[in-house]
Amino acid sequence: MEQHVSKQIMVSGLKPSGEIHLGNYLGAVKQWVELQDMHPSYFFVADLHAITEPQKPKDLHAQIIETAATYLALGIDPKKSVFFIQSHVPQHTELMWILNTITSMGDLERMVVYKEKISEGKEALAGLFAYPVLMAADIILYKAAHVPVGEDQRQHVELTRELARRFNTRFGNVFPLPKPLLPKVGARIMSLQDPSKKMSKSHGAATYIGLFDAPDVIRKKIKSAVTDSGSEIIYSPEKKPAVANLMTLYHLYSGLTFSEIEKEFAGKGYGDFKVALAELLISNLSPIQDERAAILADKNRLLTVLRDGGERASATAAKTLDEVYAKVGLKIEI
Ligand code: TRP
Repeated sequence: MEQHVSKQIMVSGLKPSGEIHLGNYLGAVKQWVELQDMHPSYFFVADLHAITEPQKPKDLHAQIIETAATYLALGIDPKKSVFFIQSHVPQHTELMWILNTITSMGDLERMVVYKEKISEGKEALAGLFAYPVLMAADIILYKAAHVPVGEDQRQHVELTRELARRFNTRFGNVFPLPKPLLPKVGARIMSLQDPSKKMSKSHGAATYIGLFDAPDVIRKKIKSAVTDSGSEIIYSPEKKPAVANLMTLYHLYSGLTFSEIEKEFAGKGYGDFKVALAELLISNLSPIQDERAAILADKNRLLTVLRDGGERASATAAKTLDEVYAKVGLKIEI
């Protein structure tokens, strides 16, 4: 880790929940992968978070492994970052217990994600309620300064910051105060069926491109994407929001500017542009798809990577927990 210019540590948890779409990738994951070069980083599959909502054990098990393979295929590099599975490092839950003792019910009752889940009809389990405390432990266990997350997780990182401050004030300085690192705007990808909505998995398969969609699925989804009135390929987010969204994808994957794209498709219609876009996406996504398949085909290698990551994470985590126990008065040498 000597080669890192900044010593500011970055930590993020990856929920093992199904597939990633272009919006997640271009809006967030791609930037995190780039940030590995700037910060000593810890990335983990948040399996203990996943069980705060009921899971089928068999499916969960498969999803944990698949999620690990997915993020490795997307460029999380175990030579640059510490990459592991959360439950392999018991200090996450141990530190959570300590943090539970300085977290008030009111702190957690304010959490919007929790309130939303309850209003959607999810069971009000103690684990779901305390989820942000586990997340706080995940982050400060590695003394992180930066936490790359989506906007929905900002409040949890702010609570983490508050708990770190509270711990430091009560027991003595141990933790830096972490900050959320939100995705840059500008890479906001919209739904293929409604350019006023963010691309999301919750509005039906036709509205998003999954990173692991087969070529024919990608062709079909792009072909049936909504467009705007007129027929010219012109970048105008106000007048042609649907076309602008497709052009943004073309721009991000081709590296061409919007005016270069306009020139390339001058005199052509939406149909030609969509065919070209679908092929461009397919040629960019298939290496990632092949890479994930190769990773999953060599389970032993994958497990070795995860074991090694878990050991490296535990080494740091054990040091922090030791400091915490000493400050709190729990440490007794026997
Ligand atoms: N709660 C995060 C999410 O839903 C996942 C997560 C768990 C996380 N622990 C974390 C993110 C620690 C950042 C840091 O996406």
